[in-house]
Amino acid sequence: MQVQEQPESPQTGAPRLQRSIVLVGLMGAGKSTVGRRLAAALHLPFYDADQEIETAAGCTISDFFERYGEAAFRDGERRVIARLLEGPRHVLATGGGAFMDAGTRQLIKQQGLSIWLRAGIELLMTRVAKRQTRPLLQTGDPRATMEKLMAERYPTYAQADLTVDSNGGPHDTVVQQILAHLSATGVKSIA
Ligand code: S3P
Repeated sequence: MQVQEQPESPQTGAPRLQRSIVLVGLMGAGKSTVGRRLAAALHLPFYDADQEIETAAGCTISDFFERYGEAAFRDGERRVIARLLEGPRHVLATGGGAFMDAGTRQLIKQQGLSIWLRAGIELLMTRVAKRQTRPLLQTGDPRATMEKLMAERYPTYAQADLTVDSNGGPHDTVVQQILAHLSATGVKSIA
């Protein structure tokens, strides 16, 4: 596993290490599981943006895509993430496309500490196979779709404040790696 950090850049809002922690990365990268465990370790609330969207919309993500399309989903996603980031400090798992939306990415850069959970194709495909409901993978060749998304998205995910590689080991190893990094760089609320 490898951790890389972007140099500090002048942003608005709270110092980076006091902000909400926002996990970004592709479907299957482990954002929700790692986020929940990271939040527990830091004694912070945890939110899953997809679940918040489902609650706000009163339907599943799949139904939302089917009824209103992806553009409307991205608008709703941006509003939900903006609302969450305005609130008290927390850990937030975003859906895989959130950081690709310029407006959402700007919100996260200004108000969050972003962490990209980077994973390779084999791991992602193994993980997404466990849940068949992701609308973007309802294609004839989900692996080719995932490879295309990796090519399109990885350069943008790389703009996250921190990149953590997941090599298929336990989620807790990723959590420990993040905690070690936060601790080494001065985060105050580690138990
Ligand atoms: C999406 C990822 C999904 C969900 C939606 C779109 C994407 O979230 O937000 O299906 O664009 O990659 P997960 O990354 O949690 O699966």
